[in-house]
Amino acid sequence: MKNSEKFKPFDLELYPENLFRRLAGDDMFGPARAPLEVDLGSGDGRFLQAMAEHFPQRNFLGIERLLGRVRKVCRRSERAGLVNVRALRMESTYAVEWLLPRGSADRVHLLFPDPWPKKKHHKRRLMAQPEFLKSVADLLKEGGEFLFKTDHEEYFEVAREAAELCPYFDVLDWPEQAFFYAETDFERQWKEAGRRIQGLRLLKVST
Ligand SMILES: C[S@@+](CC[C@H](N)C(=O)[O-])C[C@H]1O[C@@H](n2cnc3c(N)ncnc32)[C@H](O)[C@@H]1O
Repeated sequence: MKNSEKFKPFDLELYPENLFRRLAGDDMFGPARAPLEVDLGSGDGRFLQAMAEHFPQRNFLGIERLLGRVRKVCRRSERAGLVNVRALRMESTYAVEWLLPRGSADRVHLLFPDPWPKKKHHKRRLMAQPEFLKSVADLLKEGGEFLFKTDHEEYFEVAREAAELCPYFDVLDWPEQAFFYAETDFERQWKEAGRRIQGLRLLKVST
């Protein structure tokens, strides 16, 4: 096998030619229009695969900074014959703010992100950064939703407070079984360890 073949991205890996130009809708899933869901920090892709299988009429884009995990998402989706999944290797904050088309996503998911437990790292928590919340709101369509889950009690409280203060979102109820929502890999592990999982469901509002 030639080196160029060894490093050839999987068909489902999104590989933007120009990282300094915002993508157009067609660049991700082709010209056919379908609702778009974006999973930030998609890990090994268990959530993406289950969601894409359950909602074949929607498109799912996973963003993940670790190449091995991106490749795993692609492998498992290709094996499952899914055509409605793409994976992008990138810092999710860069992708959300600079690369993805504004107003293109119906839902954005941020599931079990790093809670940065040390005090000196608290400012790295995504949900505590107003500019991050603003860029997620910009990525969403009007009426789109931003869903967040964590097992970390303190991070949940910080995220809830930030969401309540944020002018771009209303906090909605999210009762269990409200709608199909696949379990993530980390969620399964934390549940097995007896950890309490909490979630926020935020509706983009016009400002
Ligand atoms: C704790 S894991 C959760 C994975 C998955 N969401 C789940 O619930 O199973 C966090 C994931 O986010 C990725 N990640 C962390 N910070 C990121 C960033 N700034 N941009 C993209 N991916 C990131 C990590 O590599 C890791 O795969």
